[in-house]
Amino acid sequence: MSGLFSLEGRTAVVTGARSGIGRAIALGYAGAGAHVIAWGRTAAVEEVVAEITAAGGSAEAVVADLSDLEAARSTARSLARDRQVDVLVNNAGIIRRGASEDVRYEQWREVRTVNLDAVWLLCQEIGASMLERQRGRIITIASMLSFQGGRQVASYAASKHAVLGLTRALANEWAGRGVGVNALAPGYVVTANTAPLRADEQRAAEISGRIPAGRWATPDDLVGPAIFLASEAAAYVHGEVLAVDGGWLAS
Ligand SMILES: NC(=O)c1ccc[n+]([C@@H]2O[C@H](COP(=O)([O-])OP(=O)(O)OC[C@H]3O[C@@H](n4cnc5c(N)ncnc54)[C@H](OP(=O)(O)O)[C@@H]3O)[C@@H](O)[C@H]2O)c1
Repeated sequence: MSGLFSLEGRTAVVTGARSGIGRAIALGYAGAGAHVIAWGRTAAVEEVVAEITAAGGSAEAVVADLSDLEAARSTARSLARDRQVDVLVNNAGIIRRGASEDVRYEQWREVRTVNLDAVWLLCQEIGASMLERQRGRIITIASMLSFQGGRQVASYAASKHAVLGLTRALANEWAGRGVGVNALAPGYVVTANTAPLRADEQRAAEISGRIPAGRWATPDDLVGPAIFLASEAAAYVHGEVLAVDGGWLAS
C-alpha cells in the first residue's frame, strides 16, 4: 500500500467490529498495517481478532456494551490512557423499526444511547488524548438517514442526523488542533441492520431500483473510503461526510 494510504504504525479502535461494516473495516485496517483494537458488545468479537491475526495482522479485543454509558466511558478512558489511539471509528449502531405513534420511549432512548450518546462519549474520551498529542483521526458512521427521514425508523433517523451534526461540530473545534473528524455515510449495505428490508421483496426492489450503481453495497465497499479518511491522504479533510452509496443521494 502506498505511503499516503498506509496505516502502518497506527493504532485504530473500531467499535461494533464483530459483524458487518465494522468487521470489514477492522480487517481492512489491519491489512493496511494498523494495530486494530476491535471493540465488541460481547466476547464474540474475539473471532474477528483471530481472523486478523491468522492473516498476519495485529489486533486485540475490547469488550464493553455501549448501551451502558458508564462502561463505555471507563473503557474509552482506559484505552486513551494505556494506548496511543490514532484512529477511532465509531461504527457500532442499532436500528429499531416501528410506527412513531407506537414506539415506546425506552426504545427511542436505546437507539439514541448507542448511536449518539456513546459516540459522543468515545469522541470526548479518546479525542482528548488525540488533542494532547495533536494527532488523530475520528470517523463516525452516518447514513442516508442523516439526510432523509426513512420509514418507521424515527429514532434511527434522528440519531444519524445528530451524528452528522456532532461530526461537524467536533471538526470545527478540533481541525486546528491536529484531530480530523469526518463521517462515512453508507448507502444500503447487506448486513444484519438491513435484513428486514431485504426480507420485504417489494421494498427491496424499490430500493435496488433507485441505486444508480444497480446493486446494494457489501461491507467491503466501505473499506477503501474508511482507509482514506484514516490516512495521511485525508490530512486536510475535515467535517466532511463521504457518502458511499452507489449514487443514491444523486438519484
Ligand atoms: N447496513 C446498512 O445499510 C447501513 C447503512 C448506513 C449506516 N449503517 C451503520 O453502519 C454501522 C454498522 O452497522 P451494520 O450495518 O454493519 O450492522 P450490524 O452487522 O448489525 O453491526 C452493528 C454492530 O454494532 C454492534 N453493537 C450494537 N449494539 C452495541 C452495543 N450496545 N455495544 C457495542 N456494540 C454494539 C453489534 O455488535 P453485536 O452484533 O454483538 O450486537 C454489531 O457488531 C451502524 O452504525 C449502522 O447504523 C448501516
